[in-house]
Amino acid sequence: MAATIRLLLSLLILMVKIGDTEQVLKLQNPLLMNCKFDRIYQFGDSLSDTGNCLRESYCGAHSRCRKVPYGMDFYQNASGRCSNGMLIIDFIAIECGLPLLNPYKDENAEFRHGVNFAVVGATALTTESLAQKNIVNPDTNSSLSVQLDWMSSHFQTTCSPAKKLNKSLFLVGEIGGNEFIYGLTQGKTMDESRRMVPEIVQTIIHGVKVSSFL
Ligand SMILES: *[C@@H]1O[C@H](CO)[C@@H](O)[C@H](O)[C@H]1NC(C)=O
Ligand SMILES: *[C@@H]1O[C@H](CO)[C@@H](O)[C@H](O)[C@H]1NC(C)=O
Ligand SMILES: *[C@@H]1O[C@H](CO)[C@@H](O)[C@H](O)[C@H]1NC(C)=O
Repeated sequence: MAATIRLLLSLLILMVKIGDTEQVLKLQNPLLMNCKFDRIYQFGDSLSDTGNCLRESYCGAHSRCRKVPYGMDFYQNASGRCSNGMLIIDFIAIECGLPLLNPYKDENAEFRHGVNFAVVGATALTTESLAQKNIVNPDTNSSLSVQLDWMSSHFQTTCSPAKKLNKSLFLVGEIGGNEFIYGLTQGKTMDESRRMVPEIVQTIIHGVKVSSFL
Protein backbone atom coordinates (compact mmCIF):
# COMPACT_ATOMS: atom_id res chain seq x y z
CA MET A 1 0.00 0.00 0.00
CA ALA A 2 2.71 2.44 1.02
CA ALA A 3 4.63 1.53 -2.10
CA THR A 4 1.57 2.15 -4.26
CA ILE A 5 1.02 5.57 -2.77
CA ARG A 6 4.69 6.41 -3.18
CA LEU A 7 4.53 5.38 -6.83
CA LEU A 8 1.44 7.51 -7.41
CA LEU A 9 3.11 10.48 -5.75
CA SER A 10 6.20 9.93 -7.85
CA LEU A 11 4.14 9.88 -11.01
CA LEU A 12 2.37 13.08 -10.02
CA ILE A 13 5.66 14.84 -9.44
CA LEU A 14 6.87 13.50 -12.75
CA MET A 15 3.90 14.82 -14.67
CA VAL A 16 4.31 18.27 -13.15
CA LYS A 17 7.95 18.30 -14.19
CA ILE A 18 7.06 17.27 -17.72
CA GLY A 19 4.61 20.13 -17.88
CA ASP A 20 7.56 22.40 -17.20
CA THR A 21 9.48 20.60 -19.98
CA GLU A 22 12.53 20.06 -17.81
CA GLN A 23 15.47 18.21 -19.29
CA VAL A 24 16.21 16.20 -16.17
CA LEU A 25 13.21 14.62 -14.54
CA LYS A 26 13.62 14.15 -10.82
CA LEU A 27 11.65 12.29 -8.20
CA GLN A 28 11.61 13.29 -4.56
CA ASN A 29 12.83 9.88 -3.47
CA PRO A 30 14.42 7.99 -6.35
CA LEU A 31 14.84 4.51 -4.88
CA LEU A 32 17.75 3.46 -7.07
CA MET A 33 19.71 6.56 -6.24
CA ASN A 34 21.43 4.69 -3.40
CA CYS A 35 23.20 2.62 -6.06
CA LYS A 36 24.85 5.85 -7.27
CA PHE A 37 24.83 4.86 -10.93
CA ASP A 38 26.01 7.70 -13.12
CA ARG A 39 25.45 6.04 -16.51
CA ILE A 40 23.14 3.46 -18.04
CA TYR A 41 23.76 1.40 -21.18
CA GLN A 42 20.75 -0.42 -22.60
CA PHE A 43 20.62 -3.14 -25.27
CA GLY A 44 17.39 -4.66 -26.52
CA ASP A 45 14.32 -4.41 -28.72
CA SER A 46 10.98 -2.58 -28.70
CA LEU A 47 10.62 -3.02 -24.95
CA SER A 48 13.51 -0.57 -24.50
CA ASP A 49 14.00 1.44 -27.71
CA THR A 50 13.68 5.17 -27.02
CA GLY A 51 14.19 6.30 -30.62
CA ASN A 52 16.75 4.25 -32.57
CA CYS A 53 14.35 2.49 -34.95
CA LEU A 54 12.77 5.84 -35.69
CA ARG A 55 16.15 6.97 -37.03
CA GLU A 56 16.89 3.89 -39.15
CA SER A 57 15.66 4.30 -42.70
CA TYR A 58 13.58 1.13 -43.10
CA CYS A 59 12.55 0.71 -39.47
CA GLY A 60 11.76 4.39 -39.12
CA ALA A 61 9.55 4.44 -42.18
CA HIS A 62 7.59 1.28 -41.29
CA SER A 63 7.41 1.04 -37.51
CA ARG A 64 3.95 1.51 -36.05
CA CYS A 65 5.59 3.16 -33.05
CA ARG A 66 6.65 6.19 -35.09
CA LYS A 67 3.31 7.92 -34.72
CA VAL A 68 0.46 8.49 -32.30
CA PRO A 69 -1.31 6.88 -30.47
CA TYR A 70 2.24 5.83 -29.42
CA GLY A 71 3.55 8.49 -27.05
CA MET A 72 0.19 10.19 -26.61
CA ASP A 73 0.10 9.95 -22.81
CA PHE A 74 3.59 11.10 -22.01
CA TYR A 75 5.22 13.09 -24.74
CA GLN A 76 2.03 14.10 -26.52
CA ASN A 77 3.87 12.85 -29.56
CA ALA A 78 5.59 9.72 -30.79
CA SER A 79 9.19 9.50 -29.59
CA GLY A 80 9.78 6.10 -31.15
CA ARG A 81 8.86 4.31 -27.94
CA CYS A 82 6.46 1.41 -28.47
CA SER A 83 4.28 2.59 -25.64
CA ASN A 84 1.56 5.14 -25.02
CA GLY A 85 3.76 6.46 -22.21
CA MET A 86 7.05 5.49 -20.62
CA LEU A 87 9.10 2.32 -20.92
CA ILE A 88 10.73 0.36 -18.08
CA ILE A 89 14.10 1.94 -18.95
CA ASP A 90 12.56 5.40 -18.45
CA PHE A 91 11.41 4.45 -14.95
CA ILE A 92 14.83 2.96 -14.17
CA ALA A 93 16.63 6.12 -15.33
CA ILE A 94 14.33 8.36 -13.30
CA GLU A 95 14.67 6.15 -10.23
CA CYS A 96 18.46 6.46 -10.61
CA GLY A 97 18.08 10.23 -10.63
CA LEU A 98 19.39 10.35 -14.21
CA PRO A 99 18.01 11.93 -17.38
CA LEU A 100 16.00 9.76 -19.77
CA LEU A 101 18.35 7.66 -21.89
CA ASN A 102 19.00 9.02 -25.36
CA PRO A 103 19.03 6.77 -28.42
CA TYR A 104 22.46 6.09 -29.95
CA LYS A 105 21.19 7.04 -33.40
CA ASP A 106 20.36 10.57 -32.31
CA GLU A 107 23.50 12.33 -33.45
CA ASN A 108 22.71 15.51 -31.57
CA ALA A 109 21.98 13.78 -28.31
CA GLU A 110 23.83 14.04 -25.03
CA PHE A 111 25.40 10.75 -23.83
CA ARG A 112 27.04 11.86 -20.60
CA HIS A 113 24.73 9.61 -18.60
CA GLY A 114 24.72 6.63 -20.95
CA VAL A 115 23.36 5.40 -24.23
CA ASN A 116 20.37 3.43 -25.38
CA PHE A 117 21.32 0.95 -28.14
CA ALA A 118 17.98 -0.91 -28.27
CA VAL A 119 16.09 -1.11 -31.58
CA VAL A 120 12.47 -2.05 -32.23
CA GLY A 121 12.30 -5.53 -33.78
CA ALA A 122 15.91 -6.42 -32.95
CA THR A 123 16.90 -10.04 -32.42
CA ALA A 124 19.64 -11.59 -30.30
CA LEU A 125 20.69 -13.69 -33.32
CA THR A 126 22.44 -11.93 -36.19
CA THR A 127 20.85 -11.47 -39.61
CA GLU A 128 23.31 -14.11 -40.95
CA SER A 129 22.40 -16.64 -38.29
CA LEU A 130 18.69 -16.10 -38.98
CA ALA A 131 19.35 -16.47 -42.73
CA GLN A 132 20.88 -19.92 -42.13
CA LYS A 133 17.53 -20.88 -40.65
CA ASN A 134 15.65 -19.25 -43.54
CA ILE A 135 14.28 -16.57 -41.24
CA VAL A 136 14.27 -12.91 -42.25
CA ASN A 137 14.13 -10.01 -39.83
CA PRO A 138 11.88 -7.67 -41.82
CA ASP A 139 12.30 -4.73 -39.46
CA THR A 140 15.98 -4.17 -38.67
CA ASN A 141 19.46 -5.67 -38.96
CA SER A 142 20.50 -4.14 -35.66
CA SER A 143 20.83 -7.38 -33.70
CA LEU A 144 22.51 -7.64 -30.30
CA SER A 145 25.97 -8.01 -31.87
CA VAL A 146 25.42 -4.87 -33.97
CA GLN A 147 24.37 -3.02 -30.82
CA LEU A 148 27.53 -4.26 -29.06
CA ASP A 149 29.59 -2.95 -32.01
CA TRP A 150 27.90 0.42 -31.59
CA MET A 151 28.93 0.34 -27.95
CA SER A 152 32.58 -0.33 -28.90
CA SER A 153 32.52 2.57 -31.37
CA HIS A 154 30.94 4.78 -28.76
CA PHE A 155 33.63 3.98 -26.20
CA GLN A 156 36.36 4.59 -28.74
CA THR A 157 35.16 8.15 -29.09
CA THR A 158 34.66 8.84 -25.38
CA CYS A 159 37.84 9.27 -23.39
CA SER A 160 39.18 6.65 -20.94
CA PRO A 161 35.89 4.83 -20.42
CA ALA A 162 37.26 2.00 -18.25
CA LYS A 163 37.79 4.28 -15.25
CA LYS A 164 34.40 5.85 -15.65
CA LEU A 165 32.34 2.70 -16.06
CA ASN A 166 32.52 1.43 -12.51
CA LYS A 167 29.30 3.22 -11.65
CA SER A 168 27.52 2.24 -14.86
CA LEU A 169 24.42 0.08 -15.11
CA PHE A 170 24.34 -2.25 -18.13
CA LEU A 171 20.99 -3.71 -19.15
CA VAL A 172 21.22 -6.49 -21.75
CA GLY A 173 17.64 -7.19 -22.73
CA GLU A 174 14.92 -7.97 -22.97
CA ILE A 175 16.11 -9.40 -26.30
CA GLY A 176 15.78 -12.78 -28.00
CA GLY A 177 11.99 -12.89 -28.36
CA ASN A 178 11.52 -11.46 -31.83
CA GLU A 179 13.24 -14.42 -33.52
CA PHE A 180 10.27 -16.56 -32.43
CA ILE A 181 7.75 -14.08 -33.84
CA TYR A 182 9.59 -13.94 -37.17
CA GLY A 183 10.15 -17.70 -37.23
CA LEU A 184 6.58 -18.66 -36.40
CA THR A 185 5.08 -16.12 -38.83
CA GLN A 186 7.47 -17.36 -41.54
CA GLY A 187 6.36 -20.98 -41.33
CA LYS A 188 8.60 -22.48 -38.64
CA THR A 189 7.06 -25.14 -36.44
CA MET A 190 7.11 -25.06 -32.64
CA ASP A 191 9.82 -27.74 -32.67
CA GLU A 192 12.01 -25.74 -35.05
CA SER A 193 11.48 -22.66 -32.92
CA ARG A 194 12.35 -24.54 -29.76
CA ARG A 195 15.63 -25.67 -31.31
CA MET A 196 16.74 -22.01 -31.56
CA VAL A 197 16.60 -21.56 -27.79
CA PRO A 198 20.15 -22.73 -26.88
CA GLU A 199 21.77 -20.52 -29.54
CA ILE A 200 19.71 -17.51 -28.47
CA VAL A 201 20.59 -18.06 -24.81
CA GLN A 202 24.29 -18.45 -25.67
CA THR A 203 24.18 -15.24 -27.74
CA ILE A 204 22.67 -13.30 -24.85
CA ILE A 205 25.20 -14.76 -22.38
CA HIS A 206 27.98 -13.71 -24.76
CA GLY A 207 26.48 -10.21 -24.96
CA VAL A 208 26.41 -9.90 -21.19
CA LYS A 209 30.05 -11.03 -20.99
CA VAL A 210 31.19 -8.59 -23.68
CA SER A 211 29.50 -5.71 -21.93
CA SER A 212 30.82 -6.65 -18.51
CA PHE A 213 34.49 -7.25 -19.46
CA LEU A 214 35.13 -3.93 -21.13
C1 LIG B 1 5.81 14.70 -33.62
O1 LIG B 1 6.78 13.75 -34.02
C2 LIG B 1 6.98 13.72 -35.41
C3 LIG B 1 7.89 12.54 -35.69
O2 LIG B 1 8.89 12.42 -34.75
C4 LIG B 1 7.55 15.06 -35.86
O3 LIG B 1 7.75 15.05 -37.25
C5 LIG B 1 6.56 16.16 -35.49
O4 LIG B 1 7.12 17.40 -35.81
C6 LIG B 1 6.25 16.11 -34.01
N1 LIG B 1 5.20 17.06 -33.71
C7 LIG B 1 5.25 17.88 -32.68
C8 LIG B 1 4.07 18.75 -32.49
O5 LIG B 1 6.21 17.92 -31.93
C1 LIG C 1 19.40 -5.93 -43.80
O1 LIG C 1 20.58 -6.06 -44.57
C2 LIG C 1 20.36 -6.58 -45.87
C3 LIG C 1 21.72 -6.79 -46.51
O2 LIG C 1 22.47 -5.62 -46.46
C4 LIG C 1 19.46 -5.64 -46.65
O3 LIG C 1 19.21 -6.17 -47.94
C5 LIG C 1 18.13 -5.48 -45.90
O4 LIG C 1 17.34 -4.53 -46.56
C6 LIG C 1 18.39 -5.02 -44.48
N1 LIG C 1 17.11 -5.05 -43.76
C7 LIG C 1 16.62 -4.00 -43.11
C8 LIG C 1 15.31 -4.20 -42.45
O5 LIG C 1 17.20 -2.94 -43.02
C1 LIG D 1 35.63 4.02 -9.64
O1 LIG D 1 36.88 4.38 -10.19
C2 LIG D 1 37.37 5.60 -9.66
C3 LIG D 1 38.62 5.96 -10.46
O2 LIG D 1 39.43 4.85 -10.69
C4 LIG D 1 37.65 5.41 -8.16
O3 LIG D 1 38.13 6.60 -7.62
C5 LIG D 1 36.35 5.03 -7.48
O4 LIG D 1 36.58 4.74 -6.12
C6 LIG D 1 35.72 3.80 -8.14
N1 LIG D 1 34.39 3.60 -7.57
C7 LIG D 1 33.92 2.41 -7.29
C8 LIG D 1 32.50 2.38 -6.79
O5 LIG D 1 34.56 1.38 -7.43
